[in-house]
Amino acid sequence: MPIEIVRNDITKMETDAIVNAARPSLLGGGGVDGAIHRAAGPGLLEECRTLGGCRTGQAKITGGYELPAKFIIHTVGPIWEGGHSGEEELLASCYRSSLDLALENGCETVAFPLISAGAYGYPKDEALRVAVDSIGKFLLDHDMTVYIVVFSRESVQLGRKLSDEITEYIDDNYTPLRQDRIRDRRREVAEDAAYIKAEEVETDFLPPMAAEPTMAPRPAKADKTEAVPSERNATVDEDFFERLRNLDESFQQMLLRMIDEAGMTDVQCYKKANIDRKLFSKIRADKHYRPSKKTALALAVALELDLPQTKELLEKAGFALSHSSIFDVIVEYFIVKRNYNIFEINEALFAYDQVTLG
Ligand code: AR6
Repeated sequence: MPIEIVRNDITKMETDAIVNAARPSLLGGGGVDGAIHRAAGPGLLEECRTLGGCRTGQAKITGGYELPAKFIIHTVGPIWEGGHSGEEELLASCYRSSLDLALENGCETVAFPLISAGAYGYPKDEALRVAVDSIGKFLLDHDMTVYIVVFSRESVQLGRKLSDEITEYIDDNYTPLRQDRIRDRRREVAEDAAYIKAEEVETDFLPPMAAEPTMAPRPAKADKTEAVPSERNATVDEDFFERLRNLDESFQQMLLRMIDEAGMTDVQCYKKANIDRKLFSKIRADKHYRPSKKTALALAVALELDLPQTKELLEKAGFALSHSSIFDVIVEYFIVKRNYNIFEINEALFAYDQVTLG
C-alpha cells in the first residue's frame, strides 16, 4: 500500500528513513524530536551540529545511528498561527522536501510523524489532510511506501461534519449479528448435518468473519470466448451474449474491462486505488487472481463504481458487502456519497480502527 496510516512510536519503524519534526537549530527538543534523539544516541546530535540548521519547510538528512531506520530526515514544520500565515504551503513543503531527500538517497520506505501537530499547534485533522495530500501528490510520480505514523497515545480526528455523517450512516445501517443467534444457527446446522450428507449442507449464510470470502473458490472458468456459441442465432440480441460473457468473467477480466471502459490507464487506476505497481502487475498477469477484500474494494473505488457495480466486482473475488461489518458500512457510505477519494476513506477507516484500503 503506497500510503499507510499506522499507530506506532516512530522510533520503532523499520523503514529506510524516518522523518523528524525538528526545530530550526536541529539540536534536539521535545516531542518526537526528543524521542528520536534519545533512541538514536549521541552520534545524531554530533552530526546535527555540522548541518547549520534548517529553515521552516525545508529538510536535511542524517544517519539513523541506533535506530532501525538507516536515515533520519529532519524537517521544520510551521508554527500554527491560525491558518492565514502560509502554514499549509509550508507544511506541504516539509513533506515534499523530505520525500525528495528520501528519493535522492534511494529510500523505498519512509515514515512520517504528523509534522507540526504537537508543540507547533497545527490542528491534527488539518495536519493529517495536508500530509495525505502532499504524500499522495508525490506518489503520483514516484514508487515508494510512505507511512504516516500516528502516535499510539493520540487518535485521528475526522472533520466534524464527516464524522457526524459517518456516525449517522453507521447508526442507520450497521446491524451487528448477535453472537447468540450465530451460536443457535451453528447448532442447527450441526444437527442437520447428522441427517444429510455433509457436502450438501449450505453454510454460506453463516457469518464467520465479514472480511472473509462468502463464497467458496470457484473452479477455473473458461475463456471469455469459449462462453460464446460459435454459431449465433441472429434473432438473439447482443445484450444477451454480453451478459453471458460477463457472467463468465473472472475478477481480473472484469477489472481490466472496466479500466478500459473508464478510459483509464493501468497506472492511473492503481495509483488512485493506493495499490503498488508490483501488486497490480500480479493481478494483470493472472486471469484467476483472487485479491483480498481491501484490494478489490480499493479498485472499485478507483474505478468510481456505484454500489451495484461494486458488489458485482466484489462477488467476482468471492466477497460481499455486509451491514454486520463496520468496515463494509463505512466503505459503503463513501460509495453511496460518490466520494472516491481513497485517502479520505482510509482516514475514516483508520479513525474507526478498521483496516484501510489498498
Ligand atoms: N512517534 C510518533 N509520533 C510522535 C512521537 C513518537 N515517538 N512523539 C510525538 N509524536 P511534536 P511539532 C507526535 O511536538 O508539532 C519539538 O520540541 C505528536 O503527538 O513532536 O512539529 C521540536 O524540537 C504530534 O502528533 O512536533 C520542535 O521545537 C507529532 O508527533 C517542536 O517540538 C508532532 O509533535 C516541533 O513541533
